[in-house]
Amino acid sequence: MNATGVRIAGVGHFVPEQVITNADLERLFDTSDEWITTRTGMKERRAARLDEPTSDIALAAARNALAQAGLRPQDINCIIVATVTPDYAFPATACVLGSKLGVPGIAAFDMEIGCSGFIYGLTVGSSLVRTGIFKRVLMVGAEELTRLVNWEDRSTAILFGDGAGAVVLEASAVDSFLGAELGADGSRPEDLYLPFSGTAHPPPTAADVAAKRNTIHMNGREVFRFAVTKMIEATDVALAQAGIGRGDVTWLIPHQANKRIIDSAAKYLNMPSDRVIVNIERYGNTSAASIPIALSEAVASGKLHDGDVILFVGFGAGLSWGAVAWRWSQTAPVAAA
Ligand code: ACO
Repeated sequence: MNATGVRIAGVGHFVPEQVITNADLERLFDTSDEWITTRTGMKERRAARLDEPTSDIALAAARNALAQAGLRPQDINCIIVATVTPDYAFPATACVLGSKLGVPGIAAFDMEIGCSGFIYGLTVGSSLVRTGIFKRVLMVGAEELTRLVNWEDRSTAILFGDGAGAVVLEASAVDSFLGAELGADGSRPEDLYLPFSGTAHPPPTAADVAAKRNTIHMNGREVFRFAVTKMIEATDVALAQAGIGRGDVTWLIPHQANKRIIDSAAKYLNMPSDRVIVNIERYGNTSAASIPIALSEAVASGKLHDGDVILFVGFGAGLSWGAVAWRWSQTAPVAAA
């Protein structure tokens, strides 16, 4: 096997049509546009149709990423889907996506690590390319968290939205992957979890469903505190592994969970706001999809240039966290076979 570099050859995203505004939420429970905006930075989020499963929005994002890369689905060797809202508990949504792309037979697996999914997937996918196991990996973050929300709980229902983002990772003569940090602590699952969704409890009874025990439960204050601490720690480790300093980062592309969390990370990095990619006001928290959607929009707007250093940083259920330092080199030559 040949060790090689990796680059992002193409990136794309897709968000469902239906928009849920803060005004819509004001009609559901006791909240206000002013509260949601000042506490989270969110104005709108998207919701998939009930006949539009996660694999469908993943497919749309994947097609956009492949088109940007100038590649066909047949050019891909492996599919990774990061999601906590799969089509089924099994088979993996990545397998379904492979079939929908018309490439059944290639390696395909899901990663279930909440909102850290893109950071973990980017690291694992890049490793598969850099070690020469696969020439091209399609890595998709796709979520439909609106399906798991308790629409009577104002502290969580305001936060989440649906969407998908995808990158095509390709063997490259220039290595974009500079360094990474990944971590997790599962000692307190109840800080952010979906009770009655697996084997820890008996299957939910009608009473459990009526009590919304199969919807998102979160200790918001605890997650907030953890997020700020871990984003900063992960950032420092990833940058040290990359052998660069905070001042070398051109763009911060953070997980879009709360504007105040993003602002804390940006402040620590001393990043001016025009160097931080934020779209939380339009999509809310799309979990594993939020970073690739933000990346896709940044590329589409012409903000990124070859040589720029991007810091991807995220956190989520697990609790889990991670950061990747990445040199943007979309036009670098493909590595020799
Ligand atoms: N509208 C109006 N009031 C509200 C709302 C709302 N939508 N939600 C909560 N409140 C009230 C609370 O009831 C509370 O009232 P009280 O003081 O009378 O009890 C008050 O506002 C303050 O509540 P806090 O929870 O302290 O509010 P906070 O400023 O912490 O904001 C929030 C809450 C937005 C949830 C914040 O804690 C947060 O963003 N935490 C991080 C969440 C996160 O990132 N989760 C995603 C993880 S990623 C993954 O893997 C899915």
